Amino acid sequence: MHARTVAAATTALVGFVALLLPVHDARAGIVGRPVVIAHRGASAQAPENTLAAVDAAADLGVRWVENDVQRTEDGELVVIHDDSLERTTDVEEVFPGRAPWKVRDFTAAEVARLDAGSWFGPAYAGARVPTLREYVRRVERHDQKLLLELKNPALYPGIERDTLKVLADEGWLDRGHLDRLVVQSFAADSLRAVHDLAPSVTTGLLGRPPVRDLPGSAAFTDLVNPSYVSLSAEYVSAVHAVEGPHGRPLRIFVWTVDDAATARTVAGYGVDGIISDKPDVVARALYER
Ligand code: G3P
Ligand code: CA
Repeated sequence: MHARTVAAATTALVGFVALLLPVHDARAGIVGRPVVIAHRGASAQAPENTLAAVDAAADLGVRWVENDVQRTEDGELVVIHDDSLERTTDVEEVFPGRAPWKVRDFTAAEVARLDAGSWFGPAYAGARVPTLREYVRRVERHDQKLLLELKNPALYPGIERDTLKVLADEGWLDRGHLDRLVVQSFAADSLRAVHDLAPSVTTGLLGRPPVRDLPGSAAFTDLVNPSYVSLSAEYVSAVHAVEGPHGRPLRIFVWTVDDAATARTVAGYGVDGIISDKPDVVARALYER
């Protein structure tokens, strides 16, 4: 009797301790709700939006990476945040006469010559601006999930179709990938176009539409992804109360949360995902005690 009681108590204790341990499975990586998403890759550890930032996220066990997609003059989709190459590459040195160095004014071959790592640190000298194709292949290699942002789509008419073509070519519109992909944008029209062209793709509207507008947005978006600055528990509940285009409640991935206290606050609001430059900090705050 006594032994059985001790065994039961021990089992309960082990279960309790397991709940408090980091949710970091060697195979699955960091798992749990909310999910943790590496913003522009693990961009506090490696130059944003490079393959090195994808690798850094994988090394941390982060299952989701976010990126930004734009288009070159000759139609190649590339992964970069700003509409200019200036901040995150050595374009000023390589092409001094080409200010303001807009992505859309350079060919893919020219972009491929640029160093997108040295600005971050000498260890990353020679890192390149990846094409979307290279990027999704690296995400695939790590068995990660992709939050793909169409950045400045008004500058690139038809980028929705171009992006879906690359994703389809790479197998990311197959059944096995659709639950590993979200396409997001601040541009509602662009997102509506993605939904119309590929209704099975999960979409996310960046920003914080008024609650009264949520049912309208839910015709073409599965997620509403606001800044943490404007977030409240009430807003999260209002989003969850609306049904999206796939018959499920809308979800929320919030950005960009880089400290433990804010991560715990927004997790307490009930968000579904937290986008962070420091996903390791967020995961530790939520899943380690
Ligand atoms: O994923 C959300 C976030 O990336 C939106 O802002 O400027 O970092 O692309 P930004
Ligand atoms: Ca982004």
